Amino acid sequence: MSAPVIMGIETSCDETSAALLRGDRILGHVILSQDVHELYGGVVPELAARAHLQVLDDVVARTCGEAGMGLEDVDAFAVTAGPGLIGALLVGVSWTKAAALALDRPLVGVHHMEAHLFGPALDDPEAQPPFVGLLVSGGHTLLIHASAWGEYRLLGKTRDDAAGEAFDKVAKLLGLPYPGGPSVEKAAVQGDPSRHRFPRPMLRSDHGPQDPEYYDFSFSGLKTAVAGRAQEVRVAGDLERELPHLAAGFQEAAVDVLVLKTLRAVEATGCSRVLLGGGVSANTRLRQAMAGRLHDGGKVFRASPRLSLDNAAMVARAGYFHLQEGRTAGLDLNADASLPFPGLRI
Ligand code: KG4
Ligand code: ZN
Repeated sequence: MSAPVIMGIETSCDETSAALLRGDRILGHVILSQDVHELYGGVVPELAARAHLQVLDDVVARTCGEAGMGLEDVDAFAVTAGPGLIGALLVGVSWTKAAALALDRPLVGVHHMEAHLFGPALDDPEAQPPFVGLLVSGGHTLLIHASAWGEYRLLGKTRDDAAGEAFDKVAKLLGLPYPGGPSVEKAAVQGDPSRHRFPRPMLRSDHGPQDPEYYDFSFSGLKTAVAGRAQEVRVAGDLERELPHLAAGFQEAAVDVLVLKTLRAVEATGCSRVLLGGGVSANTRLRQAMAGRLHDGGKVFRASPRLSLDNAAMVARAGYFHLQEGRTAGLDLNADASLPFPGLRI
């Protein structure tokens, strides 16, 4: 018997996306990034919700067109129920509940960050637990150990800004366009990371696994250090010349912390399979540094850039897992801006 056809819907932030999967195989996938936020240098929640509402029907229609299917061919619906922007989430959740009700199909609520764990598996069937997972997005930074799908242990998280948020804030203070991560990465290509050395927060070598800071992250002090240095070079009239070096120095510090904390988790768990997920995992320097620092026998899994950023294919794939486990939702499924991560033990 062939695997069921799952439709995934993602509207948690500023991408409107729909996907049709048969098991692991993508049959149709559309991701529409909202460019309205460029005007404001960051996501405006109210505008995000309105834009999802305007385009979701058409995004679904195009996805069905790509797959050569109609909605009646869908066996189950999966939707991001949280975390994210509440108004934006509500658009996807309401649409999907209506579709599941109208077609009398099962409905699955998906956690956005768990869905990011499934992204790499869509490119590489080997990207399965056990692994140490580093989830780095605009709203979250989580270091976990996955012993199986649905069985996760939280090792570390950010104490303040998320990794992607730090990229976005640094881009803004350097005058680089939104979204910040890709802008900083692009600027850094021409830069020398050793010209401005920034702090590596919470990386004390005398800390051990029993110390509360051992696996945790903090990016707000790093951002402040970059802001201070940027102001100095601005006053000296050198900002334009120094900008690539500032971007490279910041990126190197952020990547260093992410990689070294992940290596601590590899050492402590004995698991040298590392999975990178979330928007920041699209960063080439992070991927290279992670692969370069893992000892022989280790392996880094990460999705293609398209499947690293927000997308509905990962939502459908996570939904497929929960469907197989019999964890479907009722029509009382609600959007939850701070939905707890399912199966995550502290
Ligand atoms: O997972 P994602 O698409 O959305 C959220 O769930 O938040 O992640 C978006 C974040 C943004 O902060 C963005 O600046 C960052 O990922 N990002 C990057 C890169 N591409 C996206 N950060 C660093 N380097 C990149 N190439
Ligand atoms: Zn995301």
